[in-house]
Amino acid sequence: MPSDDRRSALIGALRYFRDLGVEEVLRPGPGGSDDAGLAASAASPASARPVEETSSGPGRETAGGDAVPAAATASDLAAVRAAVAACQLCRLAQTRTQTVFSDGTGKTRIMFVGEAPGADEDATGVPFVGRAGQLLTKMIEGGMGLSRQDVYIANVLKCRPPGNRNPEPDEIALCRPYLEAQVGLVAPAALVALGKFAAQFLLETEEPISRLRGRWGSYRGIPVMPTYHPSFLLRQPERKKEAWEDLLKVLERLGLPSPRRPGGAT
Ligand code: URA
Repeated sequence: MPSDDRRSALIGALRYFRDLGVEEVLRPGPGGSDDAGLAASAASPASARPVEETSSGPGRETAGGDAVPAAATASDLAAVRAAVAACQLCRLAQTRTQTVFSDGTGKTRIMFVGEAPGADEDATGVPFVGRAGQLLTKMIEGGMGLSRQDVYIANVLKCRPPGNRNPEPDEIALCRPYLEAQVGLVAPAALVALGKFAAQFLLETEEPISRLRGRWGSYRGIPVMPTYHPSFLLRQPERKKEAWEDLLKVLERLGLPSPRRPGGAT
């Protein structure tokens, strides 16, 4: 995605937050830390300006080949993280312990999208750290031969639905600009949609995950591979082979080597 498009995606998201009453966005300080920062009011039009003015840093190549200043991406992601941390747009703000924004630096070619935080994620603020998260880590490390640090992980919802119930349509709609901004800023070469909610969100369809999985789709020009959610695979371990095949398609598409199948042929 060209950097102008990425910048306008972020500005659009920040304007949306402002219109919906998010009053404060914290921007990182000169050290570039994700959470520290200088307060900028999101309630005034000036709120988007510092994001437009982010400094450049060492560049990286996106999937599309355009050079993106890495420092700008990190600080823009930090601005969205801060907006999420302050979010009061839906009922989940009343019941969450904390928001759960992402794991990973954002300098990656592969982005995983899950459904919503569970109890462990709500307690730690990090996505996919509970049982399903441990399986996801195994899928990334054992199944794909990557390190978890090599990828970026986020969810459709940033707050835990009480009792781990399914996300409600209005919660998904209100949270949408946050994930849109994350995808726009990370600009991965491929998205992996984990389960029905992520796949239906990214592909704008109501088709069941059983029909979507294993078939490439597209989100704003970025290839999307839908696969089963790790929680489903914990309940139905016999479906892990299909999920592994889906992940191999991602490696193949990105020209990355496939690890050997445990105990045999690739
Ligand atoms: N399930 C998800 O979809 N996301 C998480 O972060 C954890 C469990």
